[in-house]
Amino acid sequence: DIKLISETGLEAYRFSISWSRLIPNGRGAVNPKGLQFYNNIIDELVKHGIQIHITLHHLDLPQILEDEYGGWLSPRIMEFGGRVTYWTTVNEPNIGAIAAYGSGQLPPGRCSDPFGITKCTAGNSSTEPYIAVHTYLLAHASVARLYREKYQAVQKGVVGINIYSFWSYPFTDSTADLEATQRCKDFMFGWILEPLVFGDYPEVMKKNVGSRLPSFTKVQSELIKGSFDFIGLNHYFSLYVSDRQTEPGIRDYNRDMSIYYRASRTEPPAGQGAPTNVPSDPKGLQLVLGYLKETYGITQLYVHENGKHI
Ligand SMILES: *[C@@H]1O[C@H](CO)[C@@H](O)[C@H](O)[C@H]1NC(C)=O
Repeated sequence: DIKLISETGLEAYRFSISWSRLIPNGRGAVNPKGLQFYNNIIDELVKHGIQIHITLHHLDLPQILEDEYGGWLSPRIMEFGGRVTYWTTVNEPNIGAIAAYGSGQLPPGRCSDPFGITKCTAGNSSTEPYIAVHTYLLAHASVARLYREKYQAVQKGVVGINIYSFWSYPFTDSTADLEATQRCKDFMFGWILEPLVFGDYPEVMKKNVGSRLPSFTKVQSELIKGSFDFIGLNHYFSLYVSDRQTEPGIRDYNRDMSIYYRASRTEPPAGQGAPTNVPSDPKGLQLVLGYLKETYGITQLYVHENGKHI
């Protein structure tokens, strides 16, 4: 409970507003009990002087929007309708899109053979993760603009987006492995941050993904560029990365990236996707922070999640 948070000496608290709880039909009427629930939490946090960080979209979506038009695969998701000054629009769009539309582990569990971790009944792992991230970015940018135009001057808050990260160490010092490690960073960080900082996807993604990677119009690119005050970061562990020959045939995110992941220097490459049962790596978190500052000039960073992966 919140008194305990305060007694523990924690200065900030981050939580997510469940869209399904607040607006059960996806749009329109607000559920008064949901509103009261979040109001009470915020009041208690304010009372104890705890800095509040809120995430708007954290992996869950009202089922009705999924049924009606396919959720994040459709631009229709963007139609929507202060005591908190730290607003995060989307949690982990990079890993969320892969888990929800590539491997099918998270709702809505879409994937296509042979890329699913579960049995694939609907979806397209070659295209949908890229479409979903494209929609996340456009939705984020619209919300950030709305916040900046209508609320920021009065509320004096900040708006940002969260990304999932692991640090990647090269498996060997070979040029191929060093390039693979850079590719991994471009696919993980650059996928989200190059549009946000420079207005377009990384060159290596455009090259490897080709026509399956959606493109931004000039207007969209301008909307996205600079549409954040801070970046929220989730980091648990680090991995070793080596080069993997580009395979012929159908591809997904991992094959587009053409790398192998390993949990340690002594293990064989993991199969589909990245291993997660890996010890936490505080040094890796420090390296990610340095990389984001150097590569993208990001100086306002909040660590939203870290520690032992569950
Ligand atoms: C996925 O989409 C691509 C591009 O439209 C298409 O070539 C491919 O056949 C689709 N795969 C599946 C499994 O539907």
